Amino acid sequence: MNYHVLTLFPEMIEQGLKTSIIGRAIEQELLTLSCTNIRDYANNKHMKVDDYPYGGGAGMVMMAEPVYGAYQSVTEKIGYRPRVIYLTPQGEVFHQNMAKELAEEQDIVFLCGHYEGIDERVLEEIVTDYVSIGDYVLTGGELPAMVMIDAISRMVPGVLSNEESAQTESFQDNLLEHPHYTRPAVWQEKEVPPVLLSGHHAKIEEWRHEQSVKRTKERRPDLLR
Ligand code: 6GU
Repeated sequence: MNYHVLTLFPEMIEQGLKTSIIGRAIEQELLTLSCTNIRDYANNKHMKVDDYPYGGGAGMVMMAEPVYGAYQSVTEKIGYRPRVIYLTPQGEVFHQNMAKELAEEQDIVFLCGHYEGIDERVLEEIVTDYVSIGDYVLTGGELPAMVMIDAISRMVPGVLSNEESAQTESFQDNLLEHPHYTRPAVWQEKEVPPVLLSGHHAKIEEWRHEQSVKRTKERRPDLLR
């Protein structure tokens, strides 16, 4: 999986993804991450990438040409037109199945906007998918791109260890995870549920499933349809 991020803040993406499990996968070359600074493709000597909106109104709009130049630098490198995801609160809301589907791609381009948005004409030309990470407004597409890269990467074979992969299954059954406990068996007078110390595996599985259903009813009844 090769990620290509078009952004005005490449260091934010690079710094944010170089640690933990995703950082490890990049080091192992299971993933590559290449960030392109849109400002490097500004077509004027002041390196300006935004301008006032035609028709008036608040804020600035990112210009088409620098975004297109950054996009072309990617297509020239890989030799085809890959999926291009534009991060926007106006997109389809990201979910686990989308992460699984995107994990099958060879290359994914993430286009991160700032200010009021990007000139519509370049979006029409290059964007294949409009994606939001939820119903709230952020200052730019960088955090959403990092969220998507994390969720997609853990679906790429080899990125998670066998132990780490087991974790995902619960969400795929539309149930939340059961509670977890570790030593000590008593902490601040609170005991670990005795069934977990019983060594009776069938009973433990039954208890965990009950806890998952109870927790889902309480916290996310929408998942039970
Ligand atoms: Cl993808 N972008 C921005 N700017 N805000 C968001 C978002 C994306 N998803 C939710 N809020």
